[in-house]
Amino acid sequence: MTDTYTALVSRGWGRDVAKRLGLPQPVPLRRHDPAAPLLPGPALVIGEGASTEQLVSALEGWGVEVRRDAEAFAQSSRTEANGSGPRRLGAIVLMLDGVQHPRDLAGPVLAAGKALRSLAPCARVVTVSRRASVQDEPAVAAARQGVDGLLRSLAKELRAGATGNGVLLAEGVSADAPSVLGALRFLLSGRSAFVDGQFLTVGTAGGSLPADAERPLEGKVAVVTGAARGIGSSIARTLARDGARVVVVDVPAAGESLARVANDIHGTALQLDITKPDAGERILTHALSRHGGLDIVVHNAGITRDKLLANMDAARWDSVIAVNIAAQLQINEALLASDRFGEGARIISVASTSGIAGNRGQTNYAASKAGVIGMVRSTAARLASRGGTANAVAPGFIETEMTAKIPFATREIARRLNSLQQGGQPQDVAEAIAFLASDAAGGISGGVLRVCGQNMVGQ
Ligand code: NAI
Repeated sequence: MTDTYTALVSRGWGRDVAKRLGLPQPVPLRRHDPAAPLLPGPALVIGEGASTEQLVSALEGWGVEVRRDAEAFAQSSRTEANGSGPRRLGAIVLMLDGVQHPRDLAGPVLAAGKALRSLAPCARVVTVSRRASVQDEPAVAAARQGVDGLLRSLAKELRAGATGNGVLLAEGVSADAPSVLGALRFLLSGRSAFVDGQFLTVGTAGGSLPADAERPLEGKVAVVTGAARGIGSSIARTLARDGARVVVVDVPAAGESLARVANDIHGTALQLDITKPDAGERILTHALSRHGGLDIVVHNAGITRDKLLANMDAARWDSVIAVNIAAQLQINEALLASDRFGEGARIISVASTSGIAGNRGQTNYAASKAGVIGMVRSTAARLASRGGTANAVAPGFIETEMTAKIPFATREIARRLNSLQQGGQPQDVAEAIAFLASDAAGGISGGVLRVCGQNMVGQ
């Protein structure tokens, strides 16, 4: 699925015309490239204290050149300027974990502001702060919650494919916990290209960092439903790229394309309608007999049957609920009842921004996708004792066959209505899922990660 407009305005005369007319100027995003460094330039780390030092040494361990002084960077980038222009920052990491009062935000935040003009295209701004809780003193809660508002606003001010996201630490989780470092690395990398204006909450000190950052799923067995095409096929390919052995599931009618995906990734195919009462057992039996285990389940299969509620019939309502949520509940029940699934397991469900903000004509779909968000919260609690996690990923506008069918004018508006002014790629959803499936995300559970380019609708 191509976005001709983005290609047109990202270079030459197209860029000049768009600039002069004040039209949206999306740029091609920086996506994962194993040959490229983690960042397109040095990282400016703003903050003090032991937790800042922990992050600095992690960044240096990842081969990132770290700068600590915004003013000094501005000066050195001017003197370093050679034929290719001044050096630009690949990221700003803003440590705000110690704020006790909203007044404490000014120093670090304004220092970050001064460095924003030095950001490279597709750079990253990442805040690291503590989650506000009801146990906090009011001033502490105000300061911590303040980070939410400032980060989401800052993300809307960034240009040229740069994004702003945050890592939230629960009480007792230190800045060098594996999932804090895992989340930070994901948010800095090209894997988070279409994640913007979002927070990843690290609730526990669990998780572990992979020995090989390019193969974080080595030795894992994953199942992906609805994998014959679209986002599901991309998820299957990405999990395989990251080292997992993958079972791809789809309806028998999609058998041919399903087999192609399975062959491409050296996985196995299971033709199955996920609404069948024995779907969970069949998935488990297949994974155990063909691969000897099951570690990761990605509930991706989904359908839409849009109608205004005034015109909605029972068939449309029921089919969407059956595929998008009831099947997931039933499969999870079957898996959790088995002692062959659960130890360190990962369940990741594909929700939708429609399930968060609502969407005209989608009462059935939004009920099912909001249901997914409720389901993972509750399932997370059940998996916690076995070291497992459950999370949802909520895509916004993604360039797929589904969205290609939207009439041109509506589609053009829908794909530009986010901070990155373009639709995401199936790959972007897949990367977020691959991260949540990894051991590094072991401390992240029960949440929703939006992959929507900071869509203007919803929170
Ligand atoms: P798609 O329609 O291209 O692919 C869905 C796949 O699920 C198909 O291969 C289909 O055969 C399979 N499937 C449907 N019912 C099934 C069943 N009963 N049993 C087994 N497989 C079944 O859809 P797309 O765009 O790739 O979406 C994937 C997921 O992402 C869905 O859950 C969708 O709701 C969600 N999503 C998509 C967005 C987009 O912009 N494309 C935005 C937000 C969420």
